[in-house]
Amino acid sequence: DDIEKDLLVIFGGTGDLTNRKLVPAVYNLFNQVGEGKEPMRVLIIGRRDWTREEYIENVKPWVKQFSRLEYTEEKWNLFKDQLDYYKMDISNIEEYKGLFEYFDSHYSDYRMLFYYAVAPRFFDPITRGLGQKEWTEGRAKVIVEKPFGENLEDAKRLFKDMEVMFGRDYIYHIDHYLGKEMVQNITTLRFDNMIFRSCWNKDYIESVEISAREQVGVETRGGYYDKSGAMRDMVQNHLFQILSILAMEMPEKDSPYAVTVAQQNVLQAIKPMSKENLDKHLVMGQYSGYRSEDKVDPESKTETYAAMAVFIDNPRWEGVPFIIRTGKKLDKRETNVVINFKKANENQFANRLHFHIQPDEGVKLSFNIKTPGLSYDTQKVDMDFCQSCDVNAHANTPEAYERLIKAVSDGQHFLFSQWPQIEYSWKWVDEAVNLWKEAGSRICLYEPGTRGPKEADDMIESFGTHWYSSKEV
Ligand code: BG6
Repeated sequence: DDIEKDLLVIFGGTGDLTNRKLVPAVYNLFNQVGEGKEPMRVLIIGRRDWTREEYIENVKPWVKQFSRLEYTEEKWNLFKDQLDYYKMDISNIEEYKGLFEYFDSHYSDYRMLFYYAVAPRFFDPITRGLGQKEWTEGRAKVIVEKPFGENLEDAKRLFKDMEVMFGRDYIYHIDHYLGKEMVQNITTLRFDNMIFRSCWNKDYIESVEISAREQVGVETRGGYYDKSGAMRDMVQNHLFQILSILAMEMPEKDSPYAVTVAQQNVLQAIKPMSKENLDKHLVMGQYSGYRSEDKVDPESKTETYAAMAVFIDNPRWEGVPFIIRTGKKLDKRETNVVINFKKANENQFANRLHFHIQPDEGVKLSFNIKTPGLSYDTQKVDMDFCQSCDVNAHANTPEAYERLIKAVSDGQHFLFSQWPQIEYSWKWVDEAVNLWKEAGSRICLYEPGTRGPKEADDMIESFGTHWYSSKEV
């Protein structure tokens, strides 16, 4: 397309995500704009009766606190000119006419990047509102947050509407885990190193662990979270993305969509959770005190913790458990992946490959050596690469949102989830949650600040391993 200037229009413009992540990300991008390039402008859509100046004063402390790049008054003063504010009720279809007039008078030569940073119930009115205008091809792109809809049916309908309105190629489903440095690195590690590429299958790998522990609770998001739960908030999107990158076949190099097709094939091949295995392979937990959080049902059975073992029905992975867990209010914030290799022989240690995704970033490989000295015993040692220890590498790593907003502008569609991926992962998660509900919604309580339910430890131990932490040797 020949339009060079982007206007990022954020619905839900005064929400937490916008303040903490999106506006700081645009500030960072602004400070890295190349010579001769137009910086992105931002139009915040909010319900509050603010002037542009009032909005700017309001968002300033957020940018100060959350920008990755250095904050100075001088930089802020340059950046703030990029910000604009428009007041409207986004659920009222009539009010979009006024918005279109505003676009025509202020932004007629801009390309629109519409960011849906709102709860899924607003996706529909925004789409219908915006759909009252004809958008010429490529004039508008849409960026949608997760969860995309409240269940599979809802998601299908929403996607159909958006596709008609904007065209499939202009819809960007954001999954910020795909913007994380070490998640992107999994592909390089797997395919650009013969030592890993050659043994990445059931003959050499015993099990795979994917763990995302959080220390935070539901904070101010009780209303959203209570409808969603850990399965829809984290597993359906972020963790299934990681799973599918770990398990996919090697994508054909020459197509940017090849990666997403390879991922999609994995998601399609995950065996549905079965009734017989439900108790053995799925553990749902809830932290004590969750039910008294603001906007949470006092009798809620929503899971704030989920652990599960899934199996992929294809020749590469037959019989290999992928064991996943995530939870809120746990002992630690840490996301990591562990590949447990098979033992070379009974008396030795199994090789393990760790991906440290956050907060530390790095890769660690453990292997056997002869115990030094006269002994012929074998002992385990580690090779440890810490990317986050390298100050320069760390400082240059863009925030996930920064990378992804730029990618929308550049049309890098492959950094986003594609509809079939969302469809398959929704389907799996919906079925598993429904089975669990039919079986009585067993929920294991755990104390805040702990490792989560003991049942999840027992589950992973039944596969001959345990949850490895990044610091563990
Ligand atoms: C979001 C979830 O998508 O990811 C939150 O809605 C969760 O509940 C967050 O806390 C975790 O992201 P990160 O980048 O902190 O691991």
